[in-house]
Amino acid sequence: MLNFFKISIILSISSSLFFACSHREIKVMPEIKLNNHSYSNFDSITIKHIHLDLSVDFNKKRLVGKAVLDIINPSTCHYLILDTRHLDIQKVKLNDSAETAWSMTEDQNHFGQALVIELSKNTQSVAVYYKTQPDAEALMWLEPEQTFGKQHPFMFTQSQAILARTWMPCMDVPSMKMTYSADIRCDKKYLALMSAENTFEKNNKGVYHFEMPQPVPSYLFALSVGNIEFRSLGNNCGVFAEPEMIEKSAYEFQDLSKMIQSAEELYGPYAWGRYDILVLPPSFPFGGMENPRLTFATPTIIAGDKSLVALVAHELAHSWSGNLVTNSTWNDFWLNEGFTVYFEERIMEKIYGKDYSDMLAKLSLEELKLTLDDFMRTAPGDTKLKLNLNNRNPDDGVSDIAYVKGCMFLRFLEMQVGRKAWDNFLNQYFNHFKWKSVTTETFLSYLDENLLSKYKNLNLNINEWVYEIGLPKNCPNIESKYLIQVEKSATLLNTQKNPKTIDTSGYTTHHWLHLFRNLNHDSIKNIMTELDTLYQLSNSQNAEIQCDWYRLCIKNEYKDAYPQIENYLIQVGRRKFLKPLYEALSETPDGLIFAKKVFEKAKAGYHSVSRNTIQSILDDNDSSNIQ
Ligand code: BES
Ligand code: ZN
Repeated sequence: MLNFFKISIILSISSSLFFACSHREIKVMPEIKLNNHSYSNFDSITIKHIHLDLSVDFNKKRLVGKAVLDIINPSTCHYLILDTRHLDIQKVKLNDSAETAWSMTEDQNHFGQALVIELSKNTQSVAVYYKTQPDAEALMWLEPEQTFGKQHPFMFTQSQAILARTWMPCMDVPSMKMTYSADIRCDKKYLALMSAENTFEKNNKGVYHFEMPQPVPSYLFALSVGNIEFRSLGNNCGVFAEPEMIEKSAYEFQDLSKMIQSAEELYGPYAWGRYDILVLPPSFPFGGMENPRLTFATPTIIAGDKSLVALVAHELAHSWSGNLVTNSTWNDFWLNEGFTVYFEERIMEKIYGKDYSDMLAKLSLEELKLTLDDFMRTAPGDTKLKLNLNNRNPDDGVSDIAYVKGCMFLRFLEMQVGRKAWDNFLNQYFNHFKWKSVTTETFLSYLDENLLSKYKNLNLNINEWVYEIGLPKNCPNIESKYLIQVEKSATLLNTQKNPKTIDTSGYTTHHWLHLFRNLNHDSIKNIMTELDTLYQLSNSQNAEIQCDWYRLCIKNEYKDAYPQIENYLIQVGRRKFLKPLYEALSETPDGLIFAKKVFEKAKAGYHSVSRNTIQSILDDNDSSNIQ
């Protein structure tokens, strides 16, 4: 028996060595430079279409198969250079027949390895046979216990910003748009979904075919597989979730049809056919991800009272700003997110009224001001709308600057020319640049030519808004009558320290958040228990309220809440919630010990995006304690 094992181990090692060495290497490597976070030669060669043929192996946590890339090579370049990271490449074939020479460069953190492929004169298609690695950063493989149903495994991808290269060889830049198709094989118990067209029905072969006829950049490629059900919410929209979450999700997203209609009334026809939402297990690292036709969403927005559906308006708005008109580089990220926050607020205003949308906008503006205070001390350059993320992880650009400063700039422009002219301009902009990618400079010159030139007497500080640090003095202000009431209650609590003196009837999620943010944690130190008992805050099931309350608990070292904080940090994988809590914990030596203990238990359940962020918070605090 032992011998048999030995022999088979030797055989498998030697066959993988044989596999690894058997291909022809490139003799003279071309020069390879990082350009917009990509090693690929997207400036010379165009990818028209990608066909993915992949099997989903839950046991080995791998995708196995091939990607066939249809290319246009006008200057007959000798090489195709693609982005990859931690992919096991097996072979590369040209025009579906002959194997060709290929080589990989050294692995570089975040950016991965260039895959250099030798082309022949008439190469039209390149097939890369490959496997992903079990720890591929884009992929999250969940054990049954990490799902709502606890019975079946689950997997999903998260490709933005530069993680697509960890699950498919591609030109991983947002300026390269291509159509795609896919054949995905999985256990027939499960349903596979992609950001593409498909019948959405489980079939007894476990083979799913997808077509994405509209061109999209690599960061919008998405796949998810699991025990997933569908519920229709209108003639072109619906929701997918595990069976245990489908009812709640369908209730929460009842207004989806209305949102799509409002968005179309604002900025033109929805271009993608269907719009569905997939509610993922809680380890999804973001609130939402605008994968075309199929937004991926965190279950932490299912509050039971529809109070967090602005996130759906946001992801839907990306169907115009981001997916139709895309930022050319990650330095132009505000073109995706700033426009989307602006658009989101307009949808919210149309459906729920100005008072409600102003309340949300005011909360965002307050958060922006806190971020600015922090960044002006630590990284002032990152407070510019046009970022400089060259050679850095584009993830560093994900902050309130792109989102909220970007949105405030657009609100500012709206105020200058009036809503009518502004809306006409935005409609024209989306229409003019649809299916294309744009830089900040392209936007600015289009703005000048098509809008501002008509208002010669306006002398606007556009350059300050876009290219300078901080927030310009002429940033519009936002008032919210609802929040003024809450501020009065916060002052009462801060001064009189008596929880019974405030009236919280009618409070929804956002009132609570504003209350917490206006409390001075020292002032309420002695009434934490009373507040908690009266309003059952530590036991709240609303992830937003929990996050902000727990932050106060940590600042006040209110230890009664620590078991609930631990549970929360283990259950929820959304980075926006994890980050402030781990940061607050790391401020004290005791807290840091607790944070590390919890992180050890929780980290297997975090997506790499969240895990890396938290790991660096803990590491930074470790080193600052030593110094
Ligand atoms: N596209 C983003 C998420 C993203 C950005 C992922 C950059 C990776 C890199 C998405 O549209 C988003 O902004 N999500 C927000 C929600 C929103 C309501 C502000 C989130 O996840 O919190
Ligand atoms: Zn967004």
